[in-house]
Amino acid sequence: MTNSSVSKIRIGILGASGYTGGELLRLLACHDGMEVAMLTAERRAGLPLAQVFPHLTALNAPDLIKIGEVDYAGLDAVFCCLPHGTTQEVIAGLPGHLKIVDLSADFRLGDPDVYAEWYGHAHQALELQKEAIYGLTELKRAEIAAARLVANPGCYPTGPQLALTPLLAAKQISPEDIIIDAKSGVSGAGREPKQNTLYAEVGEGVHAYGVAKHRHAPEIEQGLSEAAGAPITVNFTPHLMPMNRGILASIYVRLADGVSVADLRASLEQNYGREPFVHVVAEGVSPATRDVRGSNHCLIGLFADRLPGRAILLTAIDNLVKGASGQALQNMNLMCGLAETTGLEQAPLFP
Ligand SMILES: NC(=O)c1ccc[n+]([C@@H]2O[C@H](COP(=O)([O-])OP(=O)(O)OC[C@H]3O[C@@H](n4cnc5c(N)ncnc54)[C@H](OP(=O)(O)O)[C@@H]3O)[C@@H](O)[C@H]2O)c1
Repeated sequence: MTNSSVSKIRIGILGASGYTGGELLRLLACHDGMEVAMLTAERRAGLPLAQVFPHLTALNAPDLIKIGEVDYAGLDAVFCCLPHGTTQEVIAGLPGHLKIVDLSADFRLGDPDVYAEWYGHAHQALELQKEAIYGLTELKRAEIAAARLVANPGCYPTGPQLALTPLLAAKQISPEDIIIDAKSGVSGAGREPKQNTLYAEVGEGVHAYGVAKHRHAPEIEQGLSEAAGAPITVNFTPHLMPMNRGILASIYVRLADGVSVADLRASLEQNYGREPFVHVVAEGVSPATRDVRGSNHCLIGLFADRLPGRAILLTAIDNLVKGASGQALQNMNLMCGLAETTGLEQAPLFP
């Protein structure tokens, strides 16, 4: 992994011992244009990668070091896979030559007041917050390609925004009365041990959390408001499922006057028909998280509701891939002028 050709883009991963960092390494293992040159950790600093992620033993990867020990001069780009809050301090100190894809929530919200309201403190890097481009690849491709700093979207916001943005932009659904009921695998909460993600707390059951106050709500609303050209609020309730990976979102919408479910399907197919990673599934098919496990795909299903004038959309992604590291790599490919799909078409070393 480190002795490859000099023409490769030299990559660092800040926070490589966590779930999204490990997933990036899995994907980069079959990327022929990037070379992993530096990995950091905090508690696990000093360890070889194979000890932290046995499924990555076959990679010839550098050992994990502390962020303070990194020599950025030898790097072209970094993925930042750190907890939110810590991230803005770290990124503010990075040299200007680096391209950065940040997987945390720190640079996703454009409005500093909304950030302060939801994260409980003023943003510590306001200039960077202004500079950052929101990285929902299919919707912001040109801006991402020209960006230095990309804020990779949250796992929950990715599927619903992909499904709803074209429909709101075309005024085919009502901007009011949007309900997003989403279920996530436990890896979404990260690798750091916490009581609420212990097997005994999550196994054999399902529960809602962050009810009416989850921090992904303003992120979803920001994107949908931009699509609709007017402020939108949504009902959003996340649930924790006894599975490792995947997010299924069930989305309930009201059709605009004179619009049918067939019109919604035609609109989504027109928008995503040529996309490598976003697919509208066949009529009558309900997408499942198992269909996208380990891949960068987002599947979108669409049904007429039994209630007149309403439709149900279903989106399935892998939270660690299209919901995090896969989309981050898709964005970094664009920023580096590479084919967007590089490293994402196969998924070896699956844990
Ligand atoms: N998990 C998901 O599905 C998902 C999806 C989308 C976005 N995200 C976001 O992506 C980021 C990473 O998520 P994750 O799930 O990979 O988290 P994680 O598994 O908890 O990993 C966090 C990483 O950051 C390091 N770290 C923790 N505190 C640090 C500090 N104070 N200074 C320097 N390094 C520190 C950890 O090192 P040690 O292991 O040595 O402690 C680890 O490498 C988060 O902001 C998260 O919200 C996650």
